[in-house]
Amino acid sequence: MPKRAHLIAGILAPLCIATFFLATIGVELFGSREAVARLNSLIVTPGLWILIPTIAAAGGTGMFLGKTRNGRLVDAKKKRMPFIAPNGLLVLLPCAIVLNRWAAAGSFDITFCIVQAVELIAGATNLTLMGLNVRDGLRMVGRLRAAPPTVKVRRAVHAAFAEPRT
Ligand code: HEM
Repeated sequence: MPKRAHLIAGILAPLCIATFFLATIGVELFGSREAVARLNSLIVTPGLWILIPTIAAAGGTGMFLGKTRNGRLVDAKKKRMPFIAPNGLLVLLPCAIVLNRWAAAGSFDITFCIVQAVELIAGATNLTLMGLNVRDGLRMVGRLRAAPPTVKVRRAVHAAFAEPRT
């Protein structure tokens, strides 16, 4: 059950962020002010109501599954969570709420643009970190091939097993 929940949350969370991100860029470039306001409203409701619990579920179930696992990939996934969660709660959430308020009031000034840029940067950061977590998760369950060892690792292995020169 936690495995299934982790898979669903782990796919849904980055998918949500990617949708918000692409829709925001699209509507900012080609949409009317009404469309921008409508999208910002949809990002808050139902968007955030889906995104925030999904990030929490991905992190929570991940930590649960990670209790019985160790290794480089689990460690890397754990280390990314202290960036993903606060970025979602302390940056994306407040940005989305104020942008929605300002857009509904028709206030598209320079502050709106700055906060919009901050939201896009935070969204891109979380998308990257979550994407890396998806990649490492898929590698852990064998759905994705592991990366070949780096030159450094190859050299270390070679040095460890090479015949000593006489
Ligand atoms: C937003 C953050 C995360 C995302 C998007 C994510 C995504 C994924 C995905 C897509 C899988 C593959 C699941 C499958 O194919 O069955 C996976 C597996 C896994 N993840 Fe995460 N993950 C996240 C956070 C974490 C964290 C914080 C941990 C804790 C270390 C973790 C531990 C694991 C483990 C142990 C597996 C293997 C599960 C198994 O054995 O079936 N994940 N993750």
